[in-house]
Amino acid sequence: MGRLVVVSNRVPTPTPGTPPAGGLAVALAGAMQERGGIWFGWSGRTLPATSAAQEEPEMVEQGRVTYALVDLTERDLNDYYAGFSNRMLWPLLHYRMDLADFTRVALAGYYRVNQLFARLLAPKVEPDDLIWVHDYHLIPMGGELRAKGLTNRLGFFLHIPFPPPDILTVLPNHADIVRGLAAYDVVGFQTPSDVENFETYIRREKVGHRLSDGRFVVHGRAIKVGAYPVGIETKAFTEAAEHAAKNPLVKRMKESLLGRQLIIGVDRLDYSKGIAERIQAYETFLTLDEEWRGRCTYLQVTPKSREDVPEYAAMEREVAELAGRVNGAHSDLDWTPIRYVNRTVGRNALAGLYRLARVGLVTPLRDGMNLVAKEYVAAQDPADPGVLLLSRFAGAAHELDIGALLTNPYDVDGTAGALARALEMPLDERVDRWRRMYDRISKFDVTDWRKAFIGALEEPERTTPKIA
Ligand code: G6P
Repeated sequence: MGRLVVVSNRVPTPTPGTPPAGGLAVALAGAMQERGGIWFGWSGRTLPATSAAQEEPEMVEQGRVTYALVDLTERDLNDYYAGFSNRMLWPLLHYRMDLADFTRVALAGYYRVNQLFARLLAPKVEPDDLIWVHDYHLIPMGGELRAKGLTNRLGFFLHIPFPPPDILTVLPNHADIVRGLAAYDVVGFQTPSDVENFETYIRREKVGHRLSDGRFVVHGRAIKVGAYPVGIETKAFTEAAEHAAKNPLVKRMKESLLGRQLIIGVDRLDYSKGIAERIQAYETFLTLDEEWRGRCTYLQVTPKSREDVPEYAAMEREVAELAGRVNGAHSDLDWTPIRYVNRTVGRNALAGLYRLARVGLVTPLRDGMNLVAKEYVAAQDPADPGVLLLSRFAGAAHELDIGALLTNPYDVDGTAGALARALEMPLDERVDRWRRMYDRISKFDVTDWRKAFIGALEEPERTTPKIA
């Protein structure tokens, strides 16, 4: 069995003093511990803009996993990460053409860093290693590794949405990006809709087609393309929620509620999350359902994110002002409708807060998957579970529509109505809906996800493609 080489922009190195890694990192590191492996990517450190690129990654060994960490110069980070990845690909792949900002300088930086990564990684790869590249920052990595002569099995997983062709073709270099995907043997998306969008794209742009065995020919290469919805560590998260009642933060929160129903939202501060629309829906709900005034508290935990990207800085002001205005308009002397918090909350406390909350608000305008939705379900008390209010535009809705109240976040009045319905839902309906969702996330957790993808990557190459 070959080793597993994972490549991602951020590398969750297990360093003392930093928060424990999330379920996804644990699952990937677990696979590498079993078979040996390398986790390669950006160290999180920045070199001055004038420095030369690093020539050798820092190698940190932890059991059978070697973390290979590359420092990036300020210029590279600015063009590759803050620029092309987060000002062009991120908004566009989240259907936000209006926010996408394309520059040739940023594009050049994107390819420069992908080339640098390929150059530093290639000598460390052994012939039977499986290579698994993650997310939109690194789409060209596969092609760059092939250009270095690597013939290993190469997989790519996109954690964010793949939009329909009318949106993707707004990207001036969309053809190169899709050509980059064709260098892999397996390309994984979060949902069947993403796969459908990919298929429509290659058909319309006349660069490929689907084969009768389900594979795709793209730019002349037969590759496997499929939906592999990311899961969470369901069992461990449920256990964390069960034990969290003793957590001081959770205790304080519970006491401070004074018997009011808790509504919770947890998101990175990102325009894709629909936080402003959600606050507006909550305000509409308070206006329409007066009897809930003073009887519920909405906690929105929103750590700041990507602050060097101007669209994020603008949003930070907008959301803070909105939360402040709603509180100013609706608070009473002894009641604040929204608790808006920009700090991060650790995994165990978070699990406890989810369990306290009668409603989980997960209403992104667009989201690849959204693991908060799954964590909220995992954390519930089976005897008295809360209600998940979930955007139909989150990838998680493909799986959790069996029990969640689905909402369209652009419909503020509709979301307000759904919130009232969630808060008033009788116990038997809550249990029934929750049970269906819990079964789903227990049957397919993050380890199953990892195994499904690696299994596909290990499948031997088949020849003689038939045209569908
Ligand atoms: C999303 C992306 C990840 C990214 C994370 C945090 O989940 O899919 O690739 O790591 O956001 O964003 P950041 O820019 O801080 O890495």
